[in-house]
Amino acid sequence: MTFDLRNAINAISDVVQNRPPPLREFDQIYMKVADMVIQAEYVARVFDGKDIVFVGDGDGIALSAAHLKAQRVIDYGPKSITLLDFDERIVNSVQRFGEKLSDEVKISAYLYNVADPLPDMHFGAYDGFHINPPWGASNGGESVTAFFERGSQATKATSLAIVVIADDPDLPWTQQVLRDTQMRAIDLGYVVAEMQPQLHLYHLDDNPDLRSCSCLFRRVVPGCVEKTSKPLEQSRLANFYGRGSPLRVKYVRQRPTLNAARESDQLYSIEPLEVQHG
Ligand SMILES: C[S@@+](CC[C@H](N)C(=O)[O-])C[C@H]1O[C@@H](n2cnc3c(N)ncnc32)[C@H](O)[C@@H]1O
Repeated sequence: MTFDLRNAINAISDVVQNRPPPLREFDQIYMKVADMVIQAEYVARVFDGKDIVFVGDGDGIALSAAHLKAQRVIDYGPKSITLLDFDERIVNSVQRFGEKLSDEVKISAYLYNVADPLPDMHFGAYDGFHINPPWGASNGGESVTAFFERGSQATKATSLAIVVIADDPDLPWTQQVLRDTQMRAIDLGYVVAEMQPQLHLYHLDDNPDLRSCSCLFRRVVPGCVEKTSKPLEQSRLANFYGRGSPLRVKYVRQRPTLNAARESDQLYSIEPLEVQHG
C-alpha cells in the first residue's frame, strides 16, 4: 500500500470540515485524523468495487474512503456507499458532500434507527457493511451486536464486515465485548478473517488513550442469513449509550436554518458595531 500522505491528509481534512459537532450523549466521539486515513484506505481496499452499507458513521469513514478515490490519492474503493444513521445532521452532511463525489462513488444516506426493523429496500441489498457502534461498556456489548445484526441483515449471503470496537487488553470489559461480538458473529455465519488490534485513537477527553481495533469478518455459512428483521427487544435498549443512558431517541433532527451555507443561527447571536454619530 503506497500513497501520498499529504494528499491523503488534505482529502480527509475536507471530510472532517464537513462533520457536524459530535453529541457525546449518543456516543458520537470522533476518530483522530491520522487513524481516519488508515481506516479509510483499508475500507477502500477491502470493499474495492463493492456496494456497501455503513450502519452509523459520525466519523466520516465512508466519505473519506470515497474522497480518497475521487481525489486520486488511491485508485480503488467501493462502487457505492449507503449510510444508515439516526442523526439527520449526519445524514444531510453525507448526502451534501456525497453529491460532489457522485462521478466516482454513488453515495446515499437515510435516516434509520437500529431499534427499528430494517426497511425492505436495504434487506440483503449490499456486499458488505461497516460499523463503529456504541462500544457496549455498560450493556454487555448489546449495542455492538444490535448494529452487527442490522449490518448482517442488510447484506448478501457472502458478505464481508468491518467492525470497529474498543480494544485495550488492560480493560477487561473491552475484551469481553470483543469475545461476545465474535461469538454472535459466529452464530450469524461469520469467521474473523483479519484483526488489527488497538489501531485508532479518538477525541475522548476522559479517556484519550482508549483505542479501537478493526476486525474483518467474512460470512462462510450462507445458510445463516436472517429471513426477517424485527424491532430490538426492550431489554436490549438499556444502558445503550452507557450506564443510565438507554436508547430512547428515535431520531436526532437538524434545526432548520435560514442560510444553508452558514452555521445554524441557534448557535450564536450577532452584536452590531456601535454607529458613530456626528
Ligand atoms: C455511536 S457513534 C460511535 C462512535 C464513532 N466514532 C462516531 O462518532 O461515529 C456511531 C454512529 O452511530 C450513530 N447512532 C447512534 N445511535 C444510533 C441508533 N440508535 N441508530 C442508528 N444510528 C445510531 C451515531 O449517530 C454515529 O454516527
